[in-house]
Amino acid sequence: MDIKFLTDIGFLIGSIGFVWGLKLLSSPDSARRGNAIASIGMAVAIISILFAPLDKGDNNYLWVIGGLAVGAVVGYIMAIRVKMTAMPQMVSIFNGLGGACAVLIGMVELRHFYSGTTAMTGGQIAISLSALFIGGIAFTGSILAWFKLEEWIRDNALVLPKHSIFNMVLLAVILALGIYVYIQDVDAGIGLAAIFMLLSLVYGVSFVVPIGGADMPVVISLLNSFSGLSAASAGLIYGNNFMLVGGILVGASGTILTVLMCNAMNRSLLNVLIGGFGGGGTSTAKKGTGDLVVKEVSLNDAAIQLYYSGSVVIVPGYGLAVAQAQKVCKEIDDLLESNGVDVKYAIHPVAGRMPGHMNVLLAEADVPYPKLLDLEDANDALKNTDIAVIVGANDVVNPSALDDPGSPIYGMPVLRVWDAKNVIVLKRSMRSGYAGIENPLFFHERTRMLFGDAKDTLSKLVSEIKNL
Ligand code: TAP
Repeated sequence: MDIKFLTDIGFLIGSIGFVWGLKLLSSPDSARRGNAIASIGMAVAIISILFAPLDKGDNNYLWVIGGLAVGAVVGYIMAIRVKMTAMPQMVSIFNGLGGACAVLIGMVELRHFYSGTTAMTGGQIAISLSALFIGGIAFTGSILAWFKLEEWIRDNALVLPKHSIFNMVLLAVILALGIYVYIQDVDAGIGLAAIFMLLSLVYGVSFVVPIGGADMPVVISLLNSFSGLSAASAGLIYGNNFMLVGGILVGASGTILTVLMCNAMNRSLLNVLIGGFGGGGTSTAKKGTGDLVVKEVSLNDAAIQLYYSGSVVIVPGYGLAVAQAQKVCKEIDDLLESNGVDVKYAIHPVAGRMPGHMNVLLAEADVPYPKLLDLEDANDALKNTDIAVIVGANDVVNPSALDDPGSPIYGMPVLRVWDAKNVIVLKRSMRSGYAGIENPLFFHERTRMLFGDAKDTLSKLVSEIKNL
């Protein structure tokens, strides 16, 4: 049978694996299987391409196998070691590497073209230039996002005065240069293409510089879609249908996620694209000093209130993930339910550090899916709730988002936990959350603080409740 035909069948199986895997990723119950199926699809496609007939040159098996081996070992070690809470950093690195690959592929092909080794149609030049542009933004933007998420760079550290205008001018210059390089065809030369690439790399950094705080999820999913589009460009350059399908799937899913994130943060996509929001702001939220008093609750009192209440809504946040408190949270849930308390979980779309973070953690602890309320349903339910228990959440329950126009998170929909009759907040200190801002909820008249590590505090609460 024709080898080219077999390669195409391999690509088809790989593409089906991706689509099927993506479908299964939509529910926590089937997500693990979805990942495995998509990986098998990828493996089939890689094996197929190794046997594909080439138009020119040889297969360079040593380089290919060497690259595969290094990539597989590094990827495996990173995936084994990464903490759940550091997932966005890992996603950023992978997005960046995808973008860097597209830049290298684009440059190599353009070098062949300008040196006269190969011919290129206008369409192929345009695709190579878009690989440089989109891949360049995905590469440097993601690396900067990684540094910000690790808190190695402060959110506002590199912001220039009138930064969004600088970004728009830079973008216009890059696009004009791209059009010039395209029109000049082979006369443009590799030098101009290299300048185009460098400016795209600079734009990637400049684009992410002003974004920070609570807006980072939006930019990460946007960069994710850029890395997919750059992979699709590389697929077009090589006429590789599998890269094209995979890239388009990542690009489309990243774009859908970006739109969902924008809605969740109440930001317009245009604001994201010109990089002119987030991080800054001059909050007028009062500080935790002066006349504002923080009231604490004892473990015993909290246990009594919870056990004898009618309804409890638990709000998990990043701190629950850090403390790995999901299983003990479910233990409390079971104890309360055994006494007739109605227990639900309020899930904010950007709680934690990655989309679906809380859903995954709670699924791990076997919390039944129907107990999870989305933002709107939770806000309705909170009005009739006896106690809202905040477990390591902060920004997603910050009232400044609704009533303080100076706050960097103003406009972001939040969980209105203060509508409940009582609020108990579990965290270790008065420190701020991801957005780095004060939370007036902690000083609210109905709020009581229960300081300590979430897992430790919940375990002690379990003992207290058992002793009642
Ligand atoms: P955060 O606002 O980050 O607050 C988490 C709180 O957990 C902190 O105030 C911290 O206070 C507490 N905490 C940390 N470790 C703890 C532990 N071991 N035990 C108890 N408490 C602990 O979390 P959130 O409310 O979930 O909001 C998420 C934030 O991350 C949003 O601003 C969101 O925009 C951003 N973000 C989200 C994503 C996605 S896609 N979900 C991605 C990137 C960024 P103490 O230090 O006092 O304990």
